Amino acid sequence: QNSDTKVLLSMYKEVARLYSHILNKTANGEPALKYLDGRDITSELIDHFDIGYAPNNSQILLQLFKDKNISDEIMRKSGLFSENQDGELFDRFRDRVMFPIKDEAGNIIAFSGRILNKADSTAKYMNSPETPIFSKSKVLFNLDSAKKTIRDKQNVILFEGFMDVISAYKAGVSNGVASMGTSLTDQQLYTLGRLTNQINICYDGDDPGVEATYRALTQLTDNKFNYGVISIPDKQDPDEYIRSAGSDKFRQLTENSVQSPISFILDYYKRHYNLSNELEQMEFLKKALQEIAKLDSPVAIDMYVGRVADELNISKDSVNKELANLKRKTA
Ligand code: CTP
Ligand code: MN
Ligand code: MN
Ligand code: MN
Ligand code: MN
Repeated sequence: QNSDTKVLLSMYKEVARLYSHILNKTANGEPALKYLDGRDITSELIDHFDIGYAPNNSQILLQLFKDKNISDEIMRKSGLFSENQDGELFDRFRDRVMFPIKDEAGNIIAFSGRILNKADSTAKYMNSPETPIFSKSKVLFNLDSAKKTIRDKQNVILFEGFMDVISAYKAGVSNGVASMGTSLTDQQLYTLGRLTNQINICYDGDDPGVEATYRALTQLTDNKFNYGVISIPDKQDPDEYIRSAGSDKFRQLTENSVQSPISFILDYYKRHYNLSNELEQMEFLKKALQEIAKLDSPVAIDMYVGRVADELNISKDSVNKELANLKRKTA
């Protein structure tokens, strides 16, 4: 570690402690505590995830680090400040619930702050910028705490967001990490690959979440990994599902309802094509067979050919012939 890194890490640690103090011990933190309570975030969870609150004041961190004689240069590098037109620094995070983001060893390297009021026109989450200690594409939220369980269970659950990871943890599912909205990067995959080769995608059940799942399954072709899909019903996200259906239901979902990629993809195409229209039937058949052709297992191929035949009300035999044609053309 060079000396900048050391200073930056100690700054983040100190800021997290301050934000946590403000949330838990001061009057300024009360609305944020109430907000978290409204989302069923208990004080145990606040402790475990080191959640804090950045008050509506642009000089808190500025003053803190000025008093400690931290140089202007380091303050700029830290990503904890924004700059006005005159080049003066002010606190980047204001009036937000603060989620510390940690590296694999548990050092706090960044923050993401959530606004309390959704009607607010600014972005729902504001993240630290890229700094010498933080690169968003390399980090997975909660990896430090989930690491052991991921190794033990030999699978990781990949969520979109902070609240999904936190609610899952509350529900007893502690092998969850979040890519923080972005699609999974090669660096994140490499990191996970050192722990397990089974990645279960549990993105939001809304349209963007389903699209992101489809993209991940069709684009992440690194065959080092096995993928599974945990679909959340009723367009909810995992956090909303846990709060409405309960922890037991969610745990069952993660244990007994992991879908294979091909099964998810067939369901996806089924929803995207109008199967009472002949042209769309052919389009569905083509897309489905393209994915089935990628499978290795003869048993799996037979099974999903059967499913497609059932779906279209045609013979398995003709679907098999179509599949053979496709394989011949692409060979
Ligand atoms: N995200 C972000 N910046 C935004 C919106 C989203 O960084 N402006 C990231 C966050 O990590 C967020 C994740 O993308 O947790 C998923 O986004 P979304 O599903 O829209 O938010 P939720 O996690 O459901 O947020 P909440 O439950 O707090 O409303
Ligand atoms: Mn989402
Ligand atoms: Mn969500
Ligand atoms: Mn959303
Ligand atoms: Mn949510």
